[in-house]
Parts: sequence; structure tokens; C-alpha cells
Amino acid sequence: MKRLLEEREKARLGGGEKRIDAQHQKGKFTARERIEMLLDEGSFEEYDMFVTHRTTDFGLDKEKYLSDGVITGHGTIDGRLVYIFSQDFTIFGGSLSETYAQKICKIMDQAMKVGAPIIGINDSGGARIQEGVRSLAGYADIFQRNILASGVVPQISAIFGPCAGGAVYSPALTDFIMMADKTSYMFVTGPKVAKTVTGEMITEEDLGGASVHATKSGVTHFVAQDENEGILLIRKLLSYLPQNNLEEPQVVECDDPIDRLEDSLNTIIPENPNIPYDVKDIIHEIVDNGEFLEIQRLYARNIVIGFAKFNGMSTGIVANQPSYLAGCLDIDASRKAARFVRFCDAFNIPIVTLVDVPGFLPGSAQEYGGIILHGAKLLYAFGEATVPKVTVILRKAYGGAYDVMSSKHLRGDVNYAWPSSEIAVMGPRGAIEVLYSKDLRKIENEEERAKFVAEKEAEYKDKFANPYEAARYGYIDDIIEPRNTRFRVIRALQTLSTKKDTNPPKKHCTMPL
Ligand code: COA
Repeated sequence: MKRLLEEREKARLGGGEKRIDAQHQKGKFTARERIEMLLDEGSFEEYDMFVTHRTTDFGLDKEKYLSDGVITGHGTIDGRLVYIFSQDFTIFGGSLSETYAQKICKIMDQAMKVGAPIIGINDSGGARIQEGVRSLAGYADIFQRNILASGVVPQISAIFGPCAGGAVYSPALTDFIMMADKTSYMFVTGPKVAKTVTGEMITEEDLGGASVHATKSGVTHFVAQDENEGILLIRKLLSYLPQNNLEEPQVVECDDPIDRLEDSLNTIIPENPNIPYDVKDIIHEIVDNGEFLEIQRLYARNIVIGFAKFNGMSTGIVANQPSYLAGCLDIDASRKAARFVRFCDAFNIPIVTLVDVPGFLPGSAQEYGGIILHGAKLLYAFGEATVPKVTVILRKAYGGAYDVMSSKHLRGDVNYAWPSSEIAVMGPRGAIEVLYSKDLRKIENEEERAKFVAEKEAEYKDKFANPYEAARYGYIDDIIEPRNTRFRVIRALQTLSTKKDTNPPKKHCTMPL
């Protein structure tokens, strides 16, 4: 018994007090502190505390630490089981050894068997250099499990320190990445290698800091001001998710009236269709208690994605954002939303889509970048999804983008439109220029020309710049009063809660990647 207590005490000290102090001085918590902060009090059960590495090279036979640089086990968050690993930078810089990888694999295997989320807290100098290929093999063993667990149990990565080289690919394979601002970075090759190979001079922060991945690459889904905020974010995120792909997300009690009328929505769309508004104002008005957990908030801001609850039901929201690039679809927005739609579909989370899209962003940059393929991803994701899909067209639904945004034709279950909707192949100005180009060329007088365009535009708007034409064909199930949107969406989701739909049997899809 005495020995057990002593050994445990030794393990809890990780790489020693000096290194723990150094960790704190960097504004970082230790691996164990992070676990304590994240899990319900007293719920953590640790596995493999007594594991040490088996390397004898480079004098490592004389340097061994209990746990070998990663703390693993399970516990609960709001009473629900989660598996967790937390990399301990105080032991060999949190670098990954063969035994360290085995510890992570053990909890991943068990999480898959019992169907519980996996949370990885990353803070590591990468592959343990002294172990060579055994360390690389350890990474690949983890990657393989990330791949098999994908779509089976939610996987969440917190980056609370360095995450470089091969180490980035485990988080990249997980569903959500959260980075702590200023104290974490992620890159495949660091600044020194960049300088040697390409001559580029760049700092760690500018190459792979949280703000870069939040705005430019879209690699991180969340940025936390500090680790405390990051921990709270992970707990919040989990509250929207089921434990695994065979479960429905939990339904919580809702104290926000389901028939709450929001009169302000009746006038929120500007009279002039070219004037923007913030779609997040609409989201906040219709969801429970105005609570919306936005994902990738600063990346591809022309589309908004995130989780909210409707009458206590977890729901994924996808919404075009007219206040940024007029809400058009481009490469980044398509990729961002496609991945989210697929996540929701994999984990039985219904999707509510709010549409105000003038089309795809035109131009060579987008075409050369492959907007055809990337746009197809979003189209594919919506069409493939079998979860309940409720769509509300708020204003513009133009061209191919109308089809893409969870239209009736892509197995949309309930498709509503606000009276302000304009559902057409393109906007009036563009349409008139195509349809009447010959007539326009013949009119030389500017005034006459303007009069002709105005007349034709009025005619076009009367025909297409409204939801009635689409509703006549049954492509819209109903035209609804905006202030009633919350109630109509909730009723649709309730009606669809027993929905069953399938895709044809196949090994896997060949969606454009
Ligand atoms: N393998 C073995 N030990 C490692 C290691 C690795 N990959 N990375 C860090 N360590 C050890 C260091 O030797 C040091 O040991 P010590 O406490 O006994 O002196 C300890 O971890 C802390 O590292 P240190 O370099 O002092 O910390 P830092 O905060 O100044 O820098 C890094 C952190 C991650 C930037 C730096 O350690 C580094 O560049 N590591 C190598 C990264 C890499 O290229 N990994 C391979 C990619 S797969």
C-alpha cells in the first residue's frame, strides 16, 4: 500500500516541479490540471499510470517517468461518459513514444466499444526523436483509430501548446479542433524548415497560431482566449452531441415558449434586395433562448454554421450571411458547410438551413481554385444527408445555389419561404442583360434604354422575384410569416423526429474531394 501511494505521488509530479513551474510560467496548465478542469469533479479514472518507455538508446534507460508523457483514462462531463488523453509537456516535451501511443490507442479502442466521445488535449514536441520509427508507427496507429472512429463517436481535439509535424494529423482527422490563442500552434513544418526549403522567414504565430488557423486556413473550429475558456467551450460543444452515431442527441427541457412570436422578423429584411443584414440576428431570434454555438466564426464568413436548440432538440444550422460577400457561395464556404452537414448527418443531428444566396462567387480565382468541385461537396453533403432537413428561404435563392442549399430536390423534408423570397435562375439585372441583349444593343438613347430595362425588370420581378412560382410547383411547402418561423421550424422538426431515410448500399461514396 505504501509503495502504491508513493508511486502514485511520483506519477502525479510528471517531469518534476521545475518543469511544472515552467509550464505555468508560459500561462499553461499541466496535463492533469486540464483533465481536472474539464471533467466532472472526482469522475476521472486513470489508466496506465505506471507505464514507462522501453527505450535504451541515447541514455534513456536512465531517464524514465511514470505515465511516459500522456495521461489517459475516462470520466464524465455533465454526467456523460468521455474518454480522454492529455499530453504532458513536462515529460520529454510531451513527445510521443511507442508506449505513449499504445496508451492512447487503448482508450480509443475502448471508447469505440462503449460508444463514448474521445477528447485529446495536445501539447507536444511531436515524435520522440530518440525512438525513431517506433514513434512514427505509434502516430499511424492513432491515425488508423481516428479514421475508424470517424462518424462513430465524436472526436474533439484541444491544442494547448505545440502541435507540429506528424502530430497535426490526428487532430486533423477529428471532428473539432479548438486552439488556445497565443499559446498554441499547429504546422506540418515549422519556421526553421520553411526558411531552409523555401527561404520564407515567418514566426511560429504567423505560420500556425490560432488566429491564422481561425481566419486563413479554417483548420481550427474554435479559438479560446485561454485554456479556461477552451475547456468551457468543449463542455458546451458536447452538450449538443450524442454519445455515438447510434444515439440521438439528448433533448433538454426548454423554458423558451415554442410559439414565441418575433414581430421584428417581419421587417428584418430590407426593402432593397441589395442591402445586407446580419443573418445571425435571425438565428438568435428563432432558437431557444438566443443561444447559438457558432463554429469557424472567422473563416468563410459568407456562410454561418453552428449548433443551437429548438425546443431542447440539438440542431445544426447552416445559413448564408448576406452581410459578408453578399452571402454568396465560394470555395471556402462550400467546404466549411459541407463538412458540417456531413458531421450532423453522421451523428443524427437535424439540419435547419436559412437561405439568402445570390449565387456562386464569379471569377478566375474561384474557377482556377476548383469551385466546381468544392461547390459540389456542399451539394453532395446536403443530398446525401438523411437526417431531418428543414429549409427556410429568407430572400434570394438564385441559380445553382438554390439547388445546393438544401432544396426540396435534394430530399429537403420541409421547405418554407418567407414572402420576401426571390427564387430565380439569377437576379433581375443579370437576367435582363442576357434575355434582351439584342434589344438593348439597338437602343442608343440612354434614357430610353433605362426605361426599357426598368420595364423588363419589373416584369421579371413580378414573375420570379417572389416565392409563389416555386410554391405553385410544390418546391416550397408553405410561405410563412417571418415572425412565426420559430414555431414552424420546431413543429417541422418534431414531425420529422421519427424520419427514416436511407442511401443505396455501397462501400463508400466517391464524393468530389
Ligand atoms: N523528442 C524528444 N524530446 C523532446 C522532443 C522530441 N520531439 N521535443 C521536445 N523534447 C524535450 C526537450 O529535449 C526538452 O527536454 P528537457 O526538459 O529534458 O530539456 C523538453 O522536451 C522541452 O523542450 P524544449 O525544447 O526545452 O521546449 P520549448 O518550449 O523551448 O520548445 C518545441 C518546444 C516543441 C518547439 C521544441 O522542443 C521542438 O522544436 N521540438 C522538436 C519538434 C519536432 O520537430 N518534432 C518532430 C516532429 S514529428
